[in-house]
Amino acid sequence: MVGAGDVATRRIASLLDVDADVSVVAPDATDSVHEWAEAGRLRLSQRAFEDTDLNGPVLAFACTGDAQVNAMVAELGRSKGVLVQRADDAGASDFLVPAVVRRDALQIAISSDGQAPTLARILRSRLDAWLPRAYGDLARLAGDFRDQVKETLPRQHRARFWLRVLDGPIAEKVFTGRLAEARRDMKRALADDRPDVPVRGEVYLVGAGPGDPDLLTSRALRLMQRADVVLYDSLIPRAIVDLSNPQAERIHVGKRASRHTLPQDDINALMVRLAGEGKRVLRLKGGDPFVFGRGGEEIAQLAEAGVAFQVVPGITAASGCAAYAGIPLTHRDYAQSVTFVTGHLKQGELELPWPQLARTGQTVVFFMAVKSLSGICEALREHGLAENWPAALVIEGTTIRQQLLVGTLADLPARVARETIEGPALLIVGEVVRLNETLGWFRPNPDTSDSV
Ligand SMILES: C[S@@+](CC[C@H](N)C(=O)[O-])C[C@H]1O[C@@H](n2cnc3c(N)ncnc32)[C@H](O)[C@@H]1O
Repeated sequence: MVGAGDVATRRIASLLDVDADVSVVAPDATDSVHEWAEAGRLRLSQRAFEDTDLNGPVLAFACTGDAQVNAMVAELGRSKGVLVQRADDAGASDFLVPAVVRRDALQIAISSDGQAPTLARILRSRLDAWLPRAYGDLARLAGDFRDQVKETLPRQHRARFWLRVLDGPIAEKVFTGRLAEARRDMKRALADDRPDVPVRGEVYLVGAGPGDPDLLTSRALRLMQRADVVLYDSLIPRAIVDLSNPQAERIHVGKRASRHTLPQDDINALMVRLAGEGKRVLRLKGGDPFVFGRGGEEIAQLAEAGVAFQVVPGITAASGCAAYAGIPLTHRDYAQSVTFVTGHLKQGELELPWPQLARTGQTVVFFMAVKSLSGICEALREHGLAENWPAALVIEGTTIRQQLLVGTLADLPARVARETIEGPALLIVGEVVRLNETLGWFRPNPDTSDSV
């Protein structure tokens, strides 16, 4: 390594990662290079480059800030049969240094052929963020069974077997940390001497977040792209459903207050049937499946029927709307706790623990509260909260149509009554609502945001 600045230090770190034997020549070096030298991980010669430095190495890196020195190293390398990489001129280099994403044995190298190294680095960060860490475990599992698969399965069945393992339920077990189970399933598949891993359907109960597609988790996105069938609710925006596997069958199972497209029991039965047919069923739900989403009921039925499933949390509308409205749900000065409740009416009645909800020093978030808004505000006042206690309605939160109506328990209902509200809305009650004045940051469409 000729040079020991920042670029050289990054290269050296990668070389040390693969246990390369590294010598560095540079008058000055970064702290990391000094530390590596002191730890005996490389040899550092603090001086200018000399011709004899290229007697011996297999590869050389010309990483100085001086193009003339780099050119000289490259030329000398050519005459001595040493391959040289020039940090300042990929075109004049004998080999390229790609940006690499690593998951143990698995490596993805990205190269722009020296045209746009920054672009390669940007892509590397994107892939790095997206690629589950557990891919390394999956590669290791495959490596551990490679010989056994070769011995057990005839050549013509192997590729299909691996495809099923690496893109099927066994891989999913690895991704969700169930390594021992994944090993056990591999052993079983091989011990049974079956040329195939049995086709077993699975259900992914996935939270799609409150509306902004950027708020999907990477696991949600990965499973959406692997699904054979997608069952989605009315609240899921098209832009999110469209991120699913384009080949997947899409079934709108509806569910919007009093306009159920498919009754809950039928949805449950449908999932059991589709999984029974060996399909990967994605059950996409708004927000988080375990927050007023009946996710628990849906998987109870699956568990009873012995269908494999996994649950992927999503950002609940409460966090999403609060964040995009600039209303922290808790705050040391105003709210030491937060409660999520449903404003859904049961036979026209609101059965809620009002004395608890009407306390100060907390935030209360009401889901499904548009119809019952006046009733809620009135009950909270009757149970002791002041008329001017802050309350806000967030409509279609986190989307470009987000609308925020801020007021008090006394005036918010009238304010809301003047609007036509079609999308989902969330009521936030508590002193934290006032913080929106200073913390509000999301301006989807300034004409529709408003304050009372
Ligand atoms: C059946 S609940 C499902 C809640 C969901 N599981 C969650 O964690 O957000 C539906 C209610 O969530 C709220 N909601 C969902 N998405 C919303 C959004 N983008 N903006 C405002 N409220 C939303 C509304 O109160 C809506 O009536």
